[in-house]
Amino acid sequence: MLRVIHFSDPHVTVSPRSLPLRMLRGKRLVGALNQMVGRGRKHRAAEMKLEALCAFQRTWRADTLVCSGDWTVLGTAPELEHAAQVLQPLRASAEHFYSVFGNHDDYIVDARESARVMARFGAWLPPAWSADHAWPRGCALGPHAYLIALNSVLPRRSPLDSSGYLDTEALGRLAERLPALAETYPWLLVMTHYAPLRSDGQPDSPRHGLHQGAALDELLQTVPGALVLHGHLHRRFAWLGSPQTVPHFCAGSLSHAGREGFWSYEIAADRLRAQGMRWSGDKFINDPQQSLELRR
Ligand SMILES: [Fe+2]
Ligand SMILES: [Fe+2]
Repeated sequence: MLRVIHFSDPHVTVSPRSLPLRMLRGKRLVGALNQMVGRGRKHRAAEMKLEALCAFQRTWRADTLVCSGDWTVLGTAPELEHAAQVLQPLRASAEHFYSVFGNHDDYIVDARESARVMARFGAWLPPAWSADHAWPRGCALGPHAYLIALNSVLPRRSPLDSSGYLDTEALGRLAERLPALAETYPWLLVMTHYAPLRSDGQPDSPRHGLHQGAALDELLQTVPGALVLHGHLHRRFAWLGSPQTVPHFCAGSLSHAGREGFWSYEIAADRLRAQGMRWSGDKFINDPQQSLELRR
């Protein structure tokens, strides 16, 4: 039985007051102000929640941990280094740790900054499929499950636009490889940061949702055993739709005060058991309302 922990959106940060002023321009200035009046409070115990996830992992012993992005708040170099430091014990706690970027990690429209994030955190991504490192990326997690990672982050200039985008060419490359993967592995875990759907099964708003999310779902419906893992929306949910549609698991936010949690998955050839985990006040415990099993 393969064990996987899926968490998202820890949003660790450093105080915006400690950042050089030159870093706080444009969208980052708005983000820093937002952090000082609201977001910072919501995630101020992020490091403690990461430690609690580590404590859970010490007893549950997942083979793989996956994170669907938003490690930080403003994607500044000091925050990203802080995230690298506080996530390291989790990375070291399992045989595999894989992540994708969130919009708060690759935050502003600056090709050099995006390249720096890629260079610094490329090792956190699943292995590339091709020499040019184009998306998707992916690897087997065991004999019964394969992880596919798609980038859905496209930095935006406007602080009012936090929408994501799936590249048509990346979807094309996925379409080419999907049938063979589905023949080999009973479960295909497709991870991206943005949510193709909200918890009610409807697309998120154009300024916050995932452009081309419907195309991903259409593609994944052509094979059995595919499911979408994502974050970005800070409430944990599973959307199962109908037997013809692809299940979606949103890990919510590991650290958002009042909503903390993640998903744990136990995967065998013929079934996948998903257990939502919630914060009890001092540790993560099973959420009895989020316990479900998918069958092949
Ligand atoms: Fe987030
Ligand atoms: Fe996000």
